[in-house]
Amino acid sequence: MNNFYPVNDYGPLMPGLVMAGVAIVHVFLAQFAVGGGLLLCYFQWLAMTGRSETARIFVNGYFRILVLISFVLGALTGVGIWFTSIQVSAPTIGQMVFNFHWVWATEWTFFCLEVVAGYCFYRYHTQLSDRTNLTLLILYAFAAWMSLFWINGILSWQLTPGDWLASRSLIDGFLNPGFWPSLLFRTIVCMTLASLIGCIVVNVIPSLDRTQRQELINRAAHLMIPMLAMPVLGVWYLLTMPDDSRGWVLGGSPAMMLFFMISVGASLAIGSYALIGLWMQKLYINGATATLLLFMAFGATAGGEFVREGSRKPYTIRHVMYSNGIRPDEVADLRIRGCVTDDPYPVVHEKDLPNDTVTVGAKVFRKQCAVCHTIDGSNAVVHLTASWDEDQMRMNIAKLQQTKPFMPPFAGTAQELESLVQYILWVESGRPSSWAQGMNPETVSQISRWLDEAGTEPAEARSIR
Ligand code: HEC
Repeated sequence: MNNFYPVNDYGPLMPGLVMAGVAIVHVFLAQFAVGGGLLLCYFQWLAMTGRSETARIFVNGYFRILVLISFVLGALTGVGIWFTSIQVSAPTIGQMVFNFHWVWATEWTFFCLEVVAGYCFYRYHTQLSDRTNLTLLILYAFAAWMSLFWINGILSWQLTPGDWLASRSLIDGFLNPGFWPSLLFRTIVCMTLASLIGCIVVNVIPSLDRTQRQELINRAAHLMIPMLAMPVLGVWYLLTMPDDSRGWVLGGSPAMMLFFMISVGASLAIGSYALIGLWMQKLYINGATATLLLFMAFGATAGGEFVREGSRKPYTIRHVMYSNGIRPDEVADLRIRGCVTDDPYPVVHEKDLPNDTVTVGAKVFRKQCAVCHTIDGSNAVVHLTASWDEDQMRMNIAKLQQTKPFMPPFAGTAQELESLVQYILWVESGRPSSWAQGMNPETVSQISRWLDEAGTEPAEARSIR
């Protein structure tokens, strides 16, 4: 496969992080859109069965507008994800589309239904009967949840492809080991988000008095009761994770563990606040508290998504594709053929580079490292290698998967590796206008020996410290 899709250069931002940023905003909005649908159904039902007259004020108030905004923004950021992912890792998204195009088409169909039902409710609900409104809302909530259902299969497959690896069957891939825990977990997150945003909205509807507010807040908080199941689902999810990924989360990678702790801590705080309040029968969440809790929920979502994305390393699709878009079974071949031999694209500012060696190095960097690193911005290779001498650098890059087991093995020739080292050294030296071009044959053969020692296999679970 000679198709090259160069990773975009976002300056000091590392592409993987740009991807994560867009994804987190999207997930947050989309999950609120799902939960908002459920909350509206519940309140519509409360209103039409005479259980709560105040609920009607809520259903007809700002909340439905928020839900509308959230699914419009959710759709826009969804498109943003496509734009970003083709710039960050076209091979990954390509592989996902290739395997799951029917699932994706189904998801989009539900999304259309969601948009139509949601808009009809928003536009016509004052002219429709209670029953029709409830039907529309149920349709909206169902379609929104179904779009989560379908996309969840594709996303969880990336980390836990399970039996699909051997069978390549769509069903095995879709209903992979992570499917159910992650679907149920996300559903609860959706409900929690809607409940918290509901509490904020209740606090800003001017026509409500304190008792009405209290009543609506108590009702909205019912959607947080399923949070009780979160610990069990969380453990279930962790158990379906591959050993090495779980290892990162539970201490192997300090950053990942930190985010995991943030996520767990914030969820615990929200859950205990709501449940203790409900338990004591006098839950009242004022606007400021609800907003604070919502921020915590955003933190928990962000932390959770970061962990989910991060713990896949070195893969974007486990055992199928490394984060840099190279497939494990290509590595041995690329060691001989070279990874940028056929790369037709110039690198950014190519004319400022001093010679061909450095240019090849910059291309190798773009191909193999740029998803997770920048050269001298965030997670910069120049900084990470600063304390190493040249030979240490050569050896540690040649044995990349042993240097840090969440990096893929180096997938290029010894000359390419030396070019990469020259590129790093050149940037480290302040990008001088002239730079030595030649390579010492002895250096190149030493690199070859290191590459052979490292082998072409990724590091597996056993090498976690
Ligand atoms: C899957 C993502 C990923 C890819 C691809 C990747 N790295 Fe890394 N690399 C990381 C992460 C994460 C760290 C840990 C950073 C830290 O400790 O702050 C790291 C650490 C490093 C370090 C420091 C190691 C140490 O022991 O301190 C170096 C050097 C490095 N990478 C170089 C590279 C080079 C060169 C490439 C391309 C050939 C590359 N990486 C490809 C994710 C990646």
